[in-house]
Amino acid sequence: MDRNPKSNRPPNIEPAIRAIAMPASANGNGDIFGGWIMSQMDLAGGTVASLQARGRVATVGVKEIAFHVPVAIGDLVSCYAELKRRGRTSVTTKIEVWVRRRDVDIELKVTEGEFTYVAIDENGAPKPLPDEDGS
Ligand SMILES: CC(C)(COP(=O)(O)OP(=O)(O)OC[C@H]1O[C@@H](n2cnc3c(N)ncnc32)[C@H](O)[C@@H]1OP(=O)(O)O)[C@@H](O)C(=O)NCCC(=O)NCCS
Repeated sequence: MDRNPKSNRPPNIEPAIRAIAMPASANGNGDIFGGWIMSQMDLAGGTVASLQARGRVATVGVKEIAFHVPVAIGDLVSCYAELKRRGRTSVTTKIEVWVRRRDVDIELKVTEGEFTYVAIDENGAPKPLPDEDGS
């Protein structure tokens, strides 16, 4: 997703996850909690990381989160996730969150950030990633 940061079009890939923002996730202002948005981003990045790891991963770090625009109740929230970096045991993903308002046919980038995951074994200890072909 190395695109023009001012792009007003979502990434040209399928979103990793989509959800409708519901009232239970709203804060006292009537907007959606940043923590709910981050949990959606974590889920989205996890789909990329667990595929790279061919197994279990744990979230180890989050950085460069920027909340650009509030998410409203009823928004269709789409999380786009791409591989940014493969380390020895870690996978870093770049996540963009876009919304379509309930009643307006315009896509808005609301949040972006990087989520890093570590491949873990059955004891929760880091383990090396398999080769990129999965071997
Ligand atoms: C994830 C965990 C197993 C890693 O164990 P660890 O002993 O800290 O691992 P290491 O220090 O060997 O680091 C493992 C990799 O993570 C990377 N890493 C560690 N901390 C990081 C951070 N804050 N941000 C980004 N990457 C990080 C290291 O650079 C290393 O990458 P590499 O192997 O690709 O070079 C351990 O920290 C843990 O269990 N944390 C809790 C996870 C959790 O509960 N997450 C929330 C729910 S999923």
